[in-house]
Amino acid sequence: MAKPQKRYVCQACGSVATRWQGQCADCGEWNTLVEEAGATVTPFQAKHNLQGGGRTFQLVGLDAEIALPERMGSGIAELDRALGGGFVEGSATLIGGDPGIGKSTLLLQAAARMALAGASVAYVSGEEAADQVRLRARRLGLGNAPVQLAAATSTRDILTTLGQGTPPALLVIDSIQTMHSDLIEGAPGTVSQVRASAQELIRFAKERGTAVVLVGHVTKDGSIAGPRVLEHMVDTVLSFEGERSHQYRILRAIKNRFGGTDEIGVFAMETSGLSEVANPSALFLTHRDEGMTGATVFPALEGTRPVLVEVQALVVRLASGATPRRAVVGWDSGRLAMILAVLEARCGLSFSTCEVYLNIAGGYRVQDPAADLAVASALVSALAERAVPADAIVFGEIALSGEVRPVAHAALRLKEAAKLGFARALAPVATAGEGGMTIDSFKTLGSLTDHLLMR
Ligand code: TYD
Ligand code: MG
Repeated sequence: MAKPQKRYVCQACGSVATRWQGQCADCGEWNTLVEEAGATVTPFQAKHNLQGGGRTFQLVGLDAEIALPERMGSGIAELDRALGGGFVEGSATLIGGDPGIGKSTLLLQAAARMALAGASVAYVSGEEAADQVRLRARRLGLGNAPVQLAAATSTRDILTTLGQGTPPALLVIDSIQTMHSDLIEGAPGTVSQVRASAQELIRFAKERGTAVVLVGHVTKDGSIAGPRVLEHMVDTVLSFEGERSHQYRILRAIKNRFGGTDEIGVFAMETSGLSEVANPSALFLTHRDEGMTGATVFPALEGTRPVLVEVQALVVRLASGATPRRAVVGWDSGRLAMILAVLEARCGLSFSTCEVYLNIAGGYRVQDPAADLAVASALVSALAERAVPADAIVFGEIALSGEVRPVAHAALRLKEAAKLGFARALAPVATAGEGGMTIDSFKTLGSLTDHLLMR
């Protein structure tokens, strides 16, 4: 009988080491290795002959018959949009996000709406007592929804209970970190427990056709066994994002085996729960005044959906020779350093004795490279104290050569801006006008800075 091996699993990335180390060799995190019981080593019985002893199975062609999986609308349009049209039968969905961002609230609302529409829905909470969930439902005005509620943490108990009779159409597990599988040793929340519990629940989903939704907490430093290790096991991964101090929340699809990953759902957290925001552009724009310096409007694209956001820059000249600060909220700081370098090298505008602050209004995170030109305009406007026209939007990607590059979906961005009352766009060359917008086009960053400084 082989001796059970000790193994040490990194709680941040899930990699396995045979010896304890202070730092994980894979992800570089400190103090994340935890001893977990490994699988008992079984002798290799096939004796190197792999062409026998197994069962044969049928191979099929790509053109074989397919039964398209059924989708169930969640009753929340913004959630359906992020999912690509609703929950898929027999699929597993992971919703990750910081604690307190509103995952439980969102799923309780979705569960209640679906139950009210006639679907059988089970909501299992491992974090809150049933009364707490009930109280919250009542506060949200959903106390009368026929949701099957339970507080449980053992996957065996959950699957035994739900395995009797007709399985529910939707099963919400809040959260996967509190679940415990007795097939494996270890405390709930460790990587191997999270993985084993998820595996059992996902198998149940596939076998019984239930759409399973797993809630997973992500912490910024990744110190708790993260849902990262689950991402490859589930069909769909949604991330619920936002600043807790802000009202707005964005539900983003990161992985979707049944649809695109470029759609977002936008919500606002109110005292009556999460409300859907159908027109996000109006929300991320702060009140616009003519003559305000250091602010530009950028038409960001989330999937096929344009969202107008305000880019704000503040430039403070330093009298002393102290090292100037660069602080960024909602954008990539490396990208800001690049834009500052291009402005210095190609346009002769120096920020080296200035502190630079950059903020995307409304707690929004911009990842679109088309924001380069909007950021550069905000910076130049702040440095020179000259306003960018209040009725203008700005977009374009900036190359290290200082060239302004065209971006994807210019027409969509222009159309959205026109709808919200903007009249002109500062954009790359060869951008065609749309919706009656005037286009001021620029080939290089230098020509844009000249344009802004000459106004
Ligand atoms: P919750 O759904 O419990 O977050 P998660 O499950 O992601 O940890 O939401 C918690 C926060 O939401 C809490 O701090 C209070 C706030 N909230 C509201 O503002 N209004 C509401 O109606 C509800 C239910 C919660
Ligand atoms: Mg919760």
